[in-house]
Amino acid sequence: MDRTAQLVARSPESAVAYDRPPRAGLLHDRAARVLEENWTGSSTVPSRGLYPHQWSWDSAFIAIGLRHISPLRAQSELETLLAAQWADGRVPHIVFNPAVPLDAYFPSPDFWRSSTAGHAAGAPRAVETSGIVQPPVHALAAWLVHCADPELSRGRGFLARVYPRLAAWHRYLLHHRDLGGGGLASVVHPWEQGMDNAPSWDAPLARVAPAPARSFRRADLDHGAAEDRPTDLDYGRYVRLAADYRDEGYADVVSDFAVEDPSFNALLIASEHALARIARDLGATGTARHARAERLTAALIERLWDPAAGMFLCRDLRGVGLVPERGVSGLIPLLLPTLPRDTAATLVRTLTGAHFGLGATTRLAPSYDLLGEAFDPHRYWRGPAWFNTNWLLERGLRVHGEQDLADALRQALLDTAGATDFAEYVDPYTGEACGATGFGWTAALTLDLLHTPTFDIRAKDTRDKGGDRG
Ligand code: SER
Repeated sequence: MDRTAQLVARSPESAVAYDRPPRAGLLHDRAARVLEENWTGSSTVPSRGLYPHQWSWDSAFIAIGLRHISPLRAQSELETLLAAQWADGRVPHIVFNPAVPLDAYFPSPDFWRSSTAGHAAGAPRAVETSGIVQPPVHALAAWLVHCADPELSRGRGFLARVYPRLAAWHRYLLHHRDLGGGGLASVVHPWEQGMDNAPSWDAPLARVAPAPARSFRRADLDHGAAEDRPTDLDYGRYVRLAADYRDEGYADVVSDFAVEDPSFNALLIASEHALARIARDLGATGTARHARAERLTAALIERLWDPAAGMFLCRDLRGVGLVPERGVSGLIPLLLPTLPRDTAATLVRTLTGAHFGLGATTRLAPSYDLLGEAFDPHRYWRGPAWFNTNWLLERGLRVHGEQDLADALRQALLDTAGATDFAEYVDPYTGEACGATGFGWTAALTLDLLHTPTFDIRAKDTRDKGGDRG
C-alpha cells in the first residue's frame, strides 16, 4: 500500500486504540516502547541518532505523554532539565550528556562552553549546556504532569520544587527578552523558536554573515537526508549567530537577529496560565499571573496579528516589522482559550483554507504556507507537518468548540504516527516520513491523544478533583 493510501485508510491499530481503553492498543505499546528506548535514566532523548542529548521543548512535550505511563519519570524529565537552569533564569535548549562522544552532535559542549563563557549569566558549573533557549512549554507540562497523579506529586513536593524555577524562567523571558519593549519575548536565534529553518527567518537571517562551511562539521547529516535538513548556508548563519552570542557572554543585548514569534509567545501565555494553576495549588491565588497572561494576549494581538493574512505573523525587530510569510507558528495561538471569538474563528478559517488545507488537501497542518514561494514538502520546517504543532492545533480546535475538525486531526495524527514509526516530521500531502524515526515527542503526543480526548488549560484545580480533564 502506498503512503497516501495508508493515510487515507484508518489504520487498524489506531482504530483499536481509539475504540478500546487506551492501554489495550498496539499503538499505545509501540509509543511507550519508543519512550523506553529513548530514556537515559533521568531524561529522554528526542532521537538516539540525530539528537542524543536532552532538548528543552522536546522534554516538555515528552513529559506530557510520559505522564500517562510513568508520572514519576515525567516529573524526573522536567526536574532534570530544570536542574540545568542558569542563575539568570534561562532554561537552556540542550543539556549535554557527558557520556555521549563530542562528535555525535554539533554544536557540541566545546562550542557552547557554557560553564566558562556563560559564567557571568550564571551558567551551572556541574553540567554543560547550550546558551540559547527554546519555547516555554514547561509550566504547562508541569501542571499536566501534576494532574496525572496529584498524590504522587504532592508526596514528592513536585510543584513546590519546580515552581520557583518556572517562575524565574518566565521572569527571564519577560524581563531580559522584551527586546521590542512591547511586552512580548523575543528570540535571538532560529533554534530558540524551535522551527529552525522556517521561511519567516529568511529575511532576518540574510543580515547574518555565515560562518565558513569549513569551520565546522555538521553531525546532523550523518543521520538525516541532506534534502530534509537545512542548507549549509543556513547552517553557517546559525553557527555565526550562536558564536557571536557566546562571545558576548550570552548577554541579551540587541544583535542582528531579534524576532517576536507568535508560537513562542502563545506557549508562554499558556504556561503563565498553568503557572497560575500551580500557584493556586500551592496556596496562593494565581490571580496576578492570570492577569499577566491576559496582558500578554493583548500584546500578542496588538503586535503580531495581521488581519489581511487572517493569522499571526513574526515581527522582525531589526527589519521592516511583520514578516509577510505564513508559518504554522501564526496559528498556534488558537491554543489560548481566552483568544477573542472572532480571532479564533479567523484562525480556523485560515487553517482550513488554501494556505494550510487542513481537512481539504492535507490531513495534518503543514509547517508553512502550501502556496508560499519557499514551500518544500520535505525540507525542515519549510512545509512538512510536525506532530507537536498539530497536537497544539488539535487542542486549540477543541478549546474553541471545533470538535469535528479536532476529531479528524486527532485520527490523522494517530494514523500517521503509527504508519511512519513515529517519524520526526512528514510530507503534508503524502504522509511520507522525513527526518528521524522513533522520535520522542511524536511517541509522547500519540500517548497523550490516546489518553486525553479532551483538553482545557483552564481546567479546575486538582484540589477540586477536576484534574486536567476539564
Ligand atoms: N534543532 C537544532 C538542530 O537541528 C538545534 O536544536 O540541532
